[in-house]
Amino acid sequence: MCDPILKAAHLSKSYGKVRALEDVSFELFSSEVLSIVGESGSGKSTLLKLLSGIIEPDCGRVTYRDKTGTLLSIFDIPDSLKRKLLRTELGFVWQDPKEGLRLKISAGGNIAERLLAGGLRSFGEARAKSIWWLNRVELPVSRLDNTPEEYSGGMRARLQLAKNLATNPRVLFLDEPTAGLDVSVQARILDLIRGLSSEFGLAVVLVTHDLMVARLLSQRILVMKDGLVIEAGLTDQVLDDPIEPYTQLLVSSILGEA
Ligand SMILES: Nc1ncnc2c1ncn2[C@@H]1O[C@H](COP(=O)(O)OP(=O)(O)OP(=O)(O)O)[C@@H](O)[C@H]1O
Ligand SMILES: [Mg+2]
Repeated sequence: MCDPILKAAHLSKSYGKVRALEDVSFELFSSEVLSIVGESGSGKSTLLKLLSGIIEPDCGRVTYRDKTGTLLSIFDIPDSLKRKLLRTELGFVWQDPKEGLRLKISAGGNIAERLLAGGLRSFGEARAKSIWWLNRVELPVSRLDNTPEEYSGGMRARLQLAKNLATNPRVLFLDEPTAGLDVSVQARILDLIRGLSSEFGLAVVLVTHDLMVARLLSQRILVMKDGLVIEAGLTDQVLDDPIEPYTQLLVSSILGEA
């Protein structure tokens, strides 16, 4: 098997007295979609922010293999390199779109800004690419010059996706990307992500409350509870035949199975 593109080792994080994450370790490979599921407050967003270097852990390590094959220890590299990676090789779709978008500039400007920050020089090309990506996530091009403030929640989620995908990231962190999307748009967005993953080797870490989304998109799944990974394995295996009582409850309440 090839080397992992991302590796988390013994990650722990507290906020004051709240233990948000405890001793989480796993590996992620190119072309793989890994789902993280679990109840509200179980530490999913905290884990995603640690994996991408947005926040620092109390202890533990995240190693990213960059496009040149160099292993980077995410918490040891300079902030400038971390920011550069987050504009280019790594994409992060925030649960709260206000964190991932500049609300006062146009949708097209949001995408163009990332492209220009990622090294593109021509503004015309950035605008053309922005239009292409808006189309790709099924946002009307007529809304290119609207600000995200004028978008609905589901439209903002798609705009964040377009913005992040525009620089062809190698790893995409998605925090509840399909919340607020109607079922048909959701299915096409999942198709888009699946296609990018199998065609271009995009690796995805997907946080979702929706076990059906996890089932459709991911090969592997981690189940979290109170900051711990309590069950992990192949998605079908975990959802069809969960071992832990908590996972059994989660699956039976959401999918009506087990
Ligand atoms: N910035 C913060 N300051 C203080 N506590 C925080 C902070 N962020 C998260 N927490 C706490 O850490 C725990 C895990 O939060 P986290 O946001 O990771 O959960 P989650 O699984 O993403 O929840 P949800 O499904 O509701 O998004 C919670 O108890 C939360 O209140
Ligand atoms: Mg969250």
